[in-house]
Amino acid sequence: MSTPFTAVEARAPGKIILAGEHAVVYGRPALAVPVFGVQARVRVTRRGAQWWVTAPAVQLDARLHDLPAEHPLRRAVVLTQAAVSGLPPAHVHITSSIPVAAGLGSGAAVTVALVRALAALAGQALPAARVNALAYEVEKLYHGTPSGIDNTVITYARPIVYRKGTGWQPLFVARPVPLVIADTGQSASTRAMVRGVRERWQAAPARVEALFDAIAQAVAAAQAALATGDLAALGQALRDNHAHLQALGVSTPALDALVDAALAAGAYGAKLAGAGGGGNMLAITRAEDQARVAAALRAAGAARVIVTTVPATEAP
Ligand code: MEV
Repeated sequence: MSTPFTAVEARAPGKIILAGEHAVVYGRPALAVPVFGVQARVRVTRRGAQWWVTAPAVQLDARLHDLPAEHPLRRAVVLTQAAVSGLPPAHVHITSSIPVAAGLGSGAAVTVALVRALAALAGQALPAARVNALAYEVEKLYHGTPSGIDNTVITYARPIVYRKGTGWQPLFVARPVPLVIADTGQSASTRAMVRGVRERWQAAPARVEALFDAIAQAVAAAQAALATGDLAALGQALRDNHAHLQALGVSTPALDALVDAALAAGAYGAKLAGAGGGGNMLAITRAEDQARVAAALRAAGAARVIVTTVPATEAP
């Protein structure tokens, strides 16, 4: 008798941090939104007695148990096995259009999709809070000391206000926000960037704490602007946030050049997005300026540009 063949697929979006990265690791609030134009897709196939994992984008095609115990994919499987009963060995096939190490949450998206696909293969639906908690455990392997914002915005797939320790709340977006996201093409390790900020914080705590407070003010201004649909005020808050991130030492000449190009092309505001050191920046524009800002970013050397819009949310 042949083994029953069962395959399940789950997907998760990318994310971008509108305001508050790095300071969020130190208890300040941050704002993040899902990016549906890119996604991680995980297909799990029940087959044989061995776990296998294939991820062509990172040249991975291996027996799961040949990966180090602390490998994020292996850890995600082990944690899911403990959370659901009767999970059979599977072939895990990962395809993702989210650029790796670029501030768009590729690691967290793969974990969330993988946990959901495996739970479905076992015939169980895990509550979102459980998926989020498992994904946070795996994020620690990627990041060291993550705030938890990436796994949270990707698990719930909606705009959020996030505060480490307190958790998340829905972020009210009164009016659609046209976004242009541009990639420097330089990959950066979130772990290394977060460690760099920690070293600066340890060396000059008062100065760095003041920067975190200034970032928190920019976050509050951005949140208020989103709630009233004032895109010009939102742009100003993001410009302020970028200046604080520059002072924190996480921007690069390539990120600054893209921010300047977006502003010169008429964006309301622009900033690096994520850990910095490379990766992506974002710009807020009028809807009619989006294509022009995108073209200016390509002309300024962006390796990839995503044009998207954050949809309005229901009033609280
Ligand atoms: C990474 O997407 C955002 C950081 O604030 C790190 C974190 O919150 O875990 C840099």
